[in-house]
Amino acid sequence: MDLAKQYDDFAADFSRVHDVGENSNRDNRQKFYSVLNFIKPGMKLLDLACGDGLDLVYYKSLGAEVYGLDASAELIKIAKERLPADDIVVGLFDQTHYADASFDVILSKYAIQTSADMASVFKEIARIIKPGGILVYLVTHPFRQYFEKKNSTADYFQQEVVEASILNNSIIVREPSHTFNEYFTAEFLNDFDIQLFQEQWDASAEQIDGKKYPGYFIVKAQKRI
Ligand SMILES: C[S@@+](CC[C@H](N)C(=O)[O-])C[C@H]1O[C@@H](n2cnc3c(N)ncnc32)[C@H](O)[C@@H]1O
Repeated sequence: MDLAKQYDDFAADFSRVHDVGENSNRDNRQKFYSVLNFIKPGMKLLDLACGDGLDLVYYKSLGAEVYGLDASAELIKIAKERLPADDIVVGLFDQTHYADASFDVILSKYAIQTSADMASVFKEIARIIKPGGILVYLVTHPFRQYFEKKNSTADYFQQEVVEASILNNSIIVREPSHTFNEYFTAEFLNDFDIQLFQEQWDASAEQIDGKKYPGYFIVKAQKRI
């Protein structure tokens, strides 16, 4: 199964449950937005894996010049209906068409963990962000992915595709598990200065066996000059 394309199969459902009522203001979105107070009008901003574009509408309201990219043609269709005049395209986050040093800001929420090879994603981000530019990403916490391993002899260090139940159990997505080492490699730390690291509990994510553990983490990092 092509994990990058799975959202095509439930784009309409994702958009519906993601955008309405409680979900549209759900905690992880507000936590993510709360660390974006550095965004200034005119900044060139890419939402990497922008989904249905709901966040792009918010980033645009801050005055940013917004760009969106996502693997799902179905979700991009919805995003383009929301923002017809903006540059929103189908593409893969580890092989984008953007020129070197294109963006002041790159944001990515609950998406890049879908890649089996985090190093290739960070390499691409480091290429297309400007020196001094800011990256903020939110990804599924490795603890959560560890608990999603069904095998009783689950190995934290071994990558396997796990099933994650999201948006209050309304959708199941599949993604490769990751370790913290994959997010904080020597290459990443050489390219970026970390300015913020937050672990958070996600009220909309399944808590397996009634355990309480973080659902995601947020990193804010600046590309070295
Ligand atoms: C959980 S959704 C999050 C969407 C959006 N960032 C949000 O927070 O609402 C994950 C997104 O990642 C996209 N995606 C998965 N793999 C991708 C890849 N290799 N390249 C680009 N987008 C990808 C999916 O199509 C989906 O829209």
